[in-house]
Amino acid sequence: MTVKIFDTPEVQDFLNTVAGFDQAGGSERAKRIVHRLLADLYRLIDDFDVTPEEFWATIGLMNELGKGSQFGLLAPGLGFDHYLDMRMDAEDEARGLAGGTPRTIEGPLYVAGAPEAEGVARMDDGSDTDSEVMWLTGQVRDTDGRPVAGARVEIWHANAKGGYSHFDPSQSEYNLRRTIITDAEGRYRARSIIPSGYGVPEGSPTDRVLKALGRHGQRPAHIHYFISAPGHKHLTTQINLAGDPYTWDDFAFATREELLVEGRLIDDAAEAEARGLEGPFTEVVFDIELSRTEAPELQSRHKRPRALEQAAD
Ligand code: BEZ
Ligand code: FE
Repeated sequence: MTVKIFDTPEVQDFLNTVAGFDQAGGSERAKRIVHRLLADLYRLIDDFDVTPEEFWATIGLMNELGKGSQFGLLAPGLGFDHYLDMRMDAEDEARGLAGGTPRTIEGPLYVAGAPEAEGVARMDDGSDTDSEVMWLTGQVRDTDGRPVAGARVEIWHANAKGGYSHFDPSQSEYNLRRTIITDAEGRYRARSIIPSGYGVPEGSPTDRVLKALGRHGQRPAHIHYFISAPGHKHLTTQINLAGDPYTWDDFAFATREELLVEGRLIDDAAEAEARGLEGPFTEVVFDIELSRTEAPELQSRHKRPRALEQAAD
């Protein structure tokens, strides 16, 4: 039998009590947000006639998501990370700070404290001899085209199986993670291996949520960046390696046309030697344009839970 009780004075009074409206302490903002959230959920329970079985199955699923620290994985799958990006893009537009290389989501797999190098770094530990060698390079400039020397370019990506060091215990510490400081011409260079796309672990609570929506948990091959320099807006972004079947079907909604990069296979001994490489390699070029700002709060990444962030910072 379907009943509707949400709009009764009894339920409305109950909501006010649950949200702490009749209490002097606590945070007014927290109370208002929790009140709104609970009101939307209570109404949903009424509208969809949610059964106790469905409710408690959802609580069980949330417990499992929490136990596996999977909320950071589910959030991009439910579009929250991209929605926050859309809001930050709109804020930049309103502040007159639009322009430069576009942002896209950070994802939950960053690890703080990667080794730092001046100008050039090798990112892979050399253990994966079957992978394609990647030469990743570019120039950091401001939106007037001036090179930014001394910019911090933090790069991290998956291995050829789609796994990230730290989260994948088979990889060495900080494998495929480096911070490179740009040279006098604003350039950075990295030797690494071509990554594969990431996939949400089969059977995980996040996978179960996606499957209930008829969706998959795959991402196309991509490379993450944090770029910062004094006097410039911090940029969190990623590039996608063109040609991946998931380019426009990313479960985390991070692909942007401007961030699609075509790798160029180079099979020329002299070109390889000039980069200190031994054989054929794929060159991936990603130039970055940073907007200028004097606002200190816009010059660094926003706070969020990140692996080893406390230990490193
Ligand atoms: C990733 O960047 O690999 C990623 C992003 C969102 C969810 C899971 C993984
Ligand atoms: Fe990633």
